[in-house]
Amino acid sequence: MTIFAPKPRKGIVLAGGTGTRLYPLTLGTSKQLLPVFDKPLIYYPLSTLILAGVREVLFITTPEDQAAFRRLLGDGSHWGMSFDYAVQAEPRGLADAYVIGRDFLDGAPSVLILGDNIFFGHGLQAMLERAAAREDATIFASHVRDPRSFGVVEMNADHQALSLEEKPERPRSNWAVTGLYFLDGSAPDRAAQVMPSARGEVEIVSVLQDYLAESRLSVETLHRGFTWLDAGTHESLHQAGEFVQTLQDRQGLLVCSPEELAYRRGLITLDALELLAVKLKKSSYGQSLAELVAHEKSQR
Ligand code: G1P
Repeated sequence: MTIFAPKPRKGIVLAGGTGTRLYPLTLGTSKQLLPVFDKPLIYYPLSTLILAGVREVLFITTPEDQAAFRRLLGDGSHWGMSFDYAVQAEPRGLADAYVIGRDFLDGAPSVLILGDNIFFGHGLQAMLERAAAREDATIFASHVRDPRSFGVVEMNADHQALSLEEKPERPRSNWAVTGLYFLDGSAPDRAAQVMPSARGEVEIVSVLQDYLAESRLSVETLHRGFTWLDAGTHESLHQAGEFVQTLQDRQGLLVCSPEELAYRRGLITLDALELLAVKLKKSSYGQSLAELVAHEKSQR
């Protein structure tokens, strides 16, 4: 008897875009390579993917920035992962990530995360694992004061999605759809059908509406005390950095370190983690990793 194992879920980080709201910072480099305190912004969404159990990741960047991403992240093997790269020549919209990623995904279910979205909070791993185990699509909704610049999901009392709208003028709820999407293997086909919106982009919300119409869309709501940040403006980038610094300084624990998470998920050994720490030892980030190694050794 042949047993067909389900294809492992693959990750896509969409890190294209021109970052115009961060000019002049992004005239010379990609937004997702800018620092959020002690590490590049891209480390944060990548950490979320590692927590979700993903090992293969496709980074979609602008053509100009791809070399810099490769220099930073390499082929992923140092973190027990596998990284691929693709370019998006113009910001054509989020759904385009599935069209670009079609060959990479090769029919596998996926997690798409936006390169500037930071998720941090208790219970995240459990939520991600729940989403990863579902055959249906899952989105993550966060309560925000002003949802007009986001995708907005309206839900019933059981947190089931009723409607989805992209950047509505009159939002039907305060629940923003965050930039983290668990979709099944049909996502590239669905994305290929989407027509560009008034702003000329193929909207992810159109793909999600497709799942919703089939009653195949689950919503995980991020509870109070959970942090969802994007770092798209000078203010939000600065706030994200201060948040990470405050937390790390107080707790003595790293926020969203791919090295630490790769180690905790068993993708790399403690010896491998130590080598990574040694390479970075002149920075406080490297020292934090070294402290983690020392602590883990003392527990043995
Ligand atoms: C995109 C999506 C929107 C989502 C947001 C999350 O918006 O279109 O639905 O709520 O990301 O960050 P954009 O970044 O294109 O403005």
